[in-house]
Amino acid sequence: MRKKIIAGNWKMNKTPKEALELVKLLKDKVNTDKSDVVFCVPFVELIPVLEELKGTNIAVGAQNMYFENSGAYTGEISADMLTEIGVKYVIIGHSERRQYFNETDKTVNKKVIKAIEKSLIPIVCVGETLEQREKGITVDFVRIQIKSAFQNVTSEQAENVIIAYEPIWAIGTGVTATSEQAEEVCSAIRKVISEIYDQNTADKIRIQYGGSVNGSNAKELFGMADIDGGLVGGASLKEDFSNIVNY
Ligand code: PGA
Repeated sequence: MRKKIIAGNWKMNKTPKEALELVKLLKDKVNTDKSDVVFCVPFVELIPVLEELKGTNIAVGAQNMYFENSGAYTGEISADMLTEIGVKYVIIGHSERRQYFNETDKTVNKKVIKAIEKSLIPIVCVGETLEQREKGITVDFVRIQIKSAFQNVTSEQAENVIIAYEPIWAIGTGVTATSEQAEEVCSAIRKVISEIYDQNTADKIRIQYGGSVNGSNAKELFGMADIDGGLVGGASLKEDFSNIVNY
């Protein structure tokens, strides 16, 4: 039985002061018994949020990292910087990073490998555009993204990676994929993992759905056979996040 994992992706929202207000509001409201819960906050908020969450079971994640260990990469953050302060997860290859910051399947793969090497758990994002969906190539496209992201990753490593299926047309739009649409792609992703590795790895890996998840649709989405939780943007900035976690 896979444990659900529900992660909030705050994106570029909340100042450090506002972040602490939100964490204080949410930390006693979310039930961490049946699901793993992660707050993926902006870099400058990692330390104060980690402090505030001490003594809880809520984990903290970053929204990005670089694939080199250290060096002349102005503006970047390394995996060691994250692990030293207690960060456990890192979102990799979010569609906004692919769209606005030129991240590619290749850089996503390098980041996945580095994160694993440094004992961070990657939350790898994949998902199609509306145009690709309308052309009927959603599953083909997502299969390529997954195959590329997992290159040179062993099955033992892969089983701890989290995959987030996020159709781009559903992100921040209020248009959620139906539970059937989400399940179709999440089950196709599990199948690709079984092809790359084996059924055992596919059975263990956790696959989230993301894209306009809220307190009203979480239960149905998370009830689907291959959906093991969610990556939540807009609704993670509000009290509603506790309804999602406690779905
Ligand atoms: P959304 O964002 O919940 O606001 O649609 C999800 C995400 O981009 O991770």
